[in-house]
Order: sequence, then C-alpha cells, then structure tokens
Amino acid sequence: MKFFVDTADTAEIADLAATGMVDGVTTNPSLIKKSGRDIMEVTKEICGLTDGPVSAEVIALDHATMMKEAEVLRKIADNVCIKVPLTIDGLKTCKALTSEGTMVNVTLCFSANQALLAAKAGASFISPFVGRHDDNGLDGMTLIEDIRLIYDNYTFDTEILVASIRHPIHVLESARIGADVGTMPPNVIRNLFKHVLTDKGLEGFLKDWKDTGQNIG
Ligand code: E4P
Repeated sequence: MKFFVDTADTAEIADLAATGMVDGVTTNPSLIKKSGRDIMEVTKEICGLTDGPVSAEVIALDHATMMKEAEVLRKIADNVCIKVPLTIDGLKTCKALTSEGTMVNVTLCFSANQALLAAKAGASFISPFVGRHDDNGLDGMTLIEDIRLIYDNYTFDTEILVASIRHPIHVLESARIGADVGTMPPNVIRNLFKHVLTDKGLEGFLKDWKDTGQNIG
C-alpha cells in the first residue's frame, strides 16, 4: 500500500520523506489555509519534495471554471494531480482531464455508488473519507470493502486512496482490504513506527550492552 502525507506543511513532508515512506502528498483548501501559505508557492515546493502525485484541489463548482483552475494548477509541476469534488461538474472535469492524460483525484466520496461513477469517469484516484464516516456513526471501512469489491468486479484501474484517516487501525484495515493508497496526517505515519515492546526491548538491550563495557568500531 502506498503512503501519501495529508498535509501542506513542507517541513513535515521533508522529514517524513527521509524515512522513505512518502509516496505522494494530498492537500485540500483547509490544509492550505492551515499552512498560511500561497497555494501556488507551497504546491510547487511540495512537488519538489516527492516524485509521487501531489493533489491540488480546484475551488470552482462549475465545469468550465474547474477546467481553467486545473490548467493553472497542472502547470506547477508534472507530478500535480488535480483534485475535484464528487459532483456532476467535478466528474465532467475528471473525464476531460484524464482523457488528456492528467492525473485526477476525485474527493469527498461517501458512497460506493459515487466511487463507481468516479471510476467510470476515468479517475486516477478515488478518495473515500473514512474518518468523517466514523464521526457520523457509520463504518468507514465497510465503504472501502465495497469499493474494493466493485472495482475488482469490473477491473477498474482507479486507485482507492483512503482519506480522512485518523489512526493506525484505519491504516491496518485499509491494508487488509487491499486499498491502493492511504493518505495520512503526519502524526499517524509517525505512530505506525511505535510499539511499546520495541521501546522496552531496546531499553533492555542497551542496558545489557552497557554492562559488557564494549564499543563497536
Ligand atoms: C485528503 O485528501 C482529504 O482531504 C483529507 O484526508 C480529509 O481529512 P479530514 O476529514 O481529516 O479533514
């Protein structure tokens, strides 16, 4: 499963990229606001930190203006992936852009039928929001299972990009189901490294090593 970082914080992206775990980045208007930076400038910088897809979201609600915004955003770098909302105009834009060879991430997906529409529109990625499902008393992971089943039934190439991930269990379940990508806030990626028995084991080894009085090298 590929790991994308869900942030526009370039220091966090650079730090995590050094671990080799970053296969791409996703941003959205709220994350751009949080960064306090200009969308063009920060997206360009992010595109230089990874070779993988960097999602940049259009703001317009109508197809014609979405196309104009996509034209501006895709000129930032070759690895920009245009993010469009799961609406009729968003999917028209998705169809037009992917037909020209531009990567598209269809966002704000909350049902398996919406994911089916996005795949038919040629989406490169579909972003079902699991955390927001859970927040509303629904089971986000069931949505991922349904989309996996449907995409496999018809051998769609659209990659399932699990979004709105809140914790490591979402990552584990996504991998079990066979999702293609998970986009995670930096703290979730960092938490994946941690285990109390790893810390405890390391502490024991270091204590015993000190007792040997040896050095390596
Ligand atoms: C990423 O593409 C999504 O915009 C993001 O994962 C949404 O996460 P949130 O529900 O925590 O805002």
